[in-house]
Amino acid sequence: MKRQRVRIAPSILSSDFAQLGEEVKRIDAAGADFIHVDVMDGHFVPNITIGPGVVKALRPHTKKTFDVHLMIAPVDPFIQDFADSGADIISVHPESGPHLHRTIQEIKRMGKKAGVVLNPATPPSAVDHVLGDVDLILVMSVNPGFGGQKFIKSQLDKLRILRAKIDSIERPIDLEVDGGINFETAPEAIAAGADVMVAGTATFTGGPSQYAANIRKLRGDA
Ligand code: DX5
Ligand code: ZN
Repeated sequence: MKRQRVRIAPSILSSDFAQLGEEVKRIDAAGADFIHVDVMDGHFVPNITIGPGVVKALRPHTKKTFDVHLMIAPVDPFIQDFADSGADIISVHPESGPHLHRTIQEIKRMGKKAGVVLNPATPPSAVDHVLGDVDLILVMSVNPGFGGQKFIKSQLDKLRILRAKIDSIERPIDLEVDGGINFETAPEAIAAGADVMVAGTATFTGGPSQYAANIRKLRGDA
């Protein structure tokens, strides 16, 4: 399978929440590929962020792919709401519901791309029996809950293992990495096989005038 190009998914968690619509337009203009939306419930993770109403309000501000990362449990009752809100990719953690396979089928039934998210301690084998069903695998390189944490290096091995699994099948699956991605760790994650970089802090550092340069550097375009 031919390698896909590196794509950048700024996490709006690090943006200015008081001007979310403008921030989304700015990262779109700055070259973002996906808009990464971190949804947290204060239960599955120790933080609360945004819900489907905010995703819906943001939808008219960009045509870019909405990459919605659900950190909520139970997750199943909210899949429909996020699908209706305009999400393009919906990613779930195996720990956030009893029937991962069923949840993935639900997401696909709603016409959306489905992703599985692996926490730092969750083994890569967790995706073995859904590899034929998913469009994206997201490796957490921090424990989910907050932006601005340090990249956990042990996740590079997991990326290498998953890259080999993905390359062994004929269908393209995005291999995304999330947490502590910056100008030093992005090249390491790319070398390990990741092709979508989630970046909150690294995208938004320096303010709007820096977004385009930050995204270019994360992509490896200098
Ligand atoms: C953490 C979130 C991440 C986070 C990344 O739970 O899933 O998307 O916002 O933030 P940075 O890039 O600052 O580590
Ligand atoms: Zn995320």
